[in-house]
Amino acid sequence: MTRPTVYIETYGCQMNVSDTELMLGKLADSGYQSVDRPDGADVILINTCAIRDHAEQRVIGRLGEIKSKMKRDAVLGVTGCMAQRLGTQLLDRVKHVSLVIGPDGYRELPSLIESARGGDRAAAVEFDLEEHYEDFTPRRLDGVKAWIPVQRGCDYRCTYCIVPTTRGPERSRRLHDVVREVESVVASGISEVVLLGQTVNSYFDGEHDFGALLRAVGNVPGVRRLRFTSPHPNDFSDSVIEAMAETSACCEHVHLPMQSGSTRTLKRMLRRYTREAYFECAERLRIAIPGLALTTDIIVGFPGETEEDFAETLSAVRELRFEDAYTFKFSPRDGTPATRFPASDTVSDEVASERLDRLIKVVRAGSRERNLALLGERREVLVEKAAKRGGLLQSRTRDFKTVMLPGDSSLIGKYVHVELTGTTGSTFLGQIIGPRPALPLAV
Ligand code: SAH
Ligand code: SF4
Ligand code: F3S
Repeated sequence: MTRPTVYIETYGCQMNVSDTELMLGKLADSGYQSVDRPDGADVILINTCAIRDHAEQRVIGRLGEIKSKMKRDAVLGVTGCMAQRLGTQLLDRVKHVSLVIGPDGYRELPSLIESARGGDRAAAVEFDLEEHYEDFTPRRLDGVKAWIPVQRGCDYRCTYCIVPTTRGPERSRRLHDVVREVESVVASGISEVVLLGQTVNSYFDGEHDFGALLRAVGNVPGVRRLRFTSPHPNDFSDSVIEAMAETSACCEHVHLPMQSGSTRTLKRMLRRYTREAYFECAERLRIAIPGLALTTDIIVGFPGETEEDFAETLSAVRELRFEDAYTFKFSPRDGTPATRFPASDTVSDEVASERLDRLIKVVRAGSRERNLALLGERREVLVEKAAKRGGLLQSRTRDFKTVMLPGDSSLIGKYVHVELTGTTGSTFLGQIIGPRPALPLAV
């Protein structure tokens, strides 16, 4: 008998990519074969994101497209954050969807799919605070770096954010379970691991904090690069920063979401830090970790954001010298506290768009200036994949810069030393100078 086929399409953050890997692993164990197109698949799952309205609109559009590609008896399921947020409403709205499963429901996937094949339509959106899928074997989609979830959910309540609703309360995996997974990843030939959590540095398994976790993972033989995303500024204790500085595998890059440079806006966002506290956190990290690259997330057009508030965001971006920033227009999410500010606080779409444009210009000008200054420098890169264009390879430095290289695919997964020879302003072009750092000419 031929095995049933499953196709999963993933939207949203790395946590969702990691969940897709868990689902594919679980379904492989239940006899499914994964395929990379929806056409003709027996089971199609769309693993969704709910962070901004745009993310959900894309999924709604995609569900429409898939209708015309699906076999008549295929099962179409929606998983992830939008599934959790909408639950049975999604079954009512989209009639060709027969399964809706939230992030804590993937253990039941095989049986839910079975029932759906028999004609049932169901939504499984209960949170399960014990669920870490410890007995699942993820089917990793990336052969070079491994996503390792260490924490699920979020206990912060930023007023704009839907994640606490879609992912439930924060819980951490036990340190030894994480270490065991990292050991198996290394045994499969992967040397870069990325620890995942919504506020990953608040990790606490009842015994070990995030500093202890970094040290334990960094000490697994064969882990050459250790990254994590996303930390919260309030959870960078001295112990965590010391562990970063003392763990040689820990890369010189931190993605530290700032959201706004205005204390007044940060307060309304319930970020629980001031502009000054964010600056101080960045400074502590930079002192402890020489050569640290900082990237960030910023929201513009948050309710009540004035031109002065926005000017503070621009000045923070200039002063903090971010290597890069992901910038977003505020998107109101149903049920979040930010939807309850008075209507007079709403920033018009026109103003928000104009602020976004100005912000992007400042971010780009800063990274361009810093990147130009790096030309001629040498770096170790890990070759990640073939680039989309130009027959080049795409690689990364420890401090998270993207370097395009000429070379063939046998280099994927290897570390090489390159000279940075050109930049588009955001990414680099490099030339390989050898597998190892060149020896100093004279001592
Ligand atoms: N847990 C992470 C963020 C996850 S969401 C953290 O706390 O840093 C990723 C980014 O999406 C956020 O940092 C924020 O910049 C953006 N975001 C979240 N909700 C948003 C909303 N309602 N509108 C616009 N951007 C939003
Ligand atoms: Fe959302 Fe805030 Fe939690 Fe990040 S820390 S996931 S922005 S509530
Ligand atoms: Fe989106 Fe859920 Fe991640 S809302 S950003 S997929 S946690």
